[in-house]
Amino acid sequence: MKTEKMWSELAGYYDILYSWKDYEKEAAVIHKLIRQLKKSPGNELLDIACGTGNHIRYLKKHYKVTGADLNKEMLKIAKKKFPRLTFHQLNMVSFDLKKRFDVITCLFSSIGYVKTYTNLMKTIDTFSWHLKPGGVLVIEPFIPRNKFYSGIPFADFVDEPDIKICRMSVSKRRGNMAILDFHFLIATRKGIERLRDKHELGLFDVERVLRLLKSHGFRAKYLREGLMEERGLFIAVKKQW
Ligand SMILES: C[S@@+](CC[C@H](N)C(=O)[O-])C[C@H]1O[C@@H](n2cnc3c(N)ncnc32)[C@H](O)[C@@H]1O
Repeated sequence: MKTEKMWSELAGYYDILYSWKDYEKEAAVIHKLIRQLKKSPGNELLDIACGTGNHIRYLKKHYKVTGADLNKEMLKIAKKKFPRLTFHQLNMVSFDLKKRFDVITCLFSSIGYVKTYTNLMKTIDTFSWHLKPGGVLVIEPFIPRNKFYSGIPFADFVDEPDIKICRMSVSKRRGNMAILDFHFLIATRKGIERLRDKHELGLFDVERVLRLLKSHGFRAKYLREGLMEERGLFIAVKKQW
């Protein structure tokens, strides 16, 4: 059994694994919040950790979108879907695109991959630098620190005519880190493949994230009812001074 680096070998299965997710509805919620809060006059949006670009499909109707992700394989799929858009391979903790945006989104718990508060602080600093005054930052976090439990078994199944996937994991916690050690069984016409994909996500405290955002020049709030159950949504506006 192979252990591969986060999503690299599984990028090709990402969209089918998350075909249950209503990206269109989520993009509509995000757009509505941005419309209520954004004070900067432009419409340039940077989707950080964009993955295969599923929110971009809908956000690009309202914004001039740029996508960015750490993973080359995920980006390859996003670029194929949206060949006219610009994508960057980067680490959200520290990057410099030498321009500022009106909106930055970082969705579906991707922020958890920065793992530590030190990295989270650097990431928020990087985001702040890339936002125009009056611009909006939308972060959909992972499950808050006090709501993540060890020892819970999870299973997802894909049952399509040409592909069957079984993904299982048992939640584990190491200090402030969630360990998601996914075991995959993938059946296609070629046969059955077994893969393992280990993800480590920082478990952050909502109040501490809010304090970090505020200390980096944002007016920020946490919406308990976000896009997905249990995760909530941080929405922050960069002060205009
Ligand atoms: C759960 S996926 C979310 C993808 C997409 N936002 C969505 O909603 O479908 C997490 C993504 O975060 C990316 N990622 C993880 N660590 C990252 C980092 N340090 N910088 C940028 N992207 C990162 C992964 O490559 C992956 O595409």
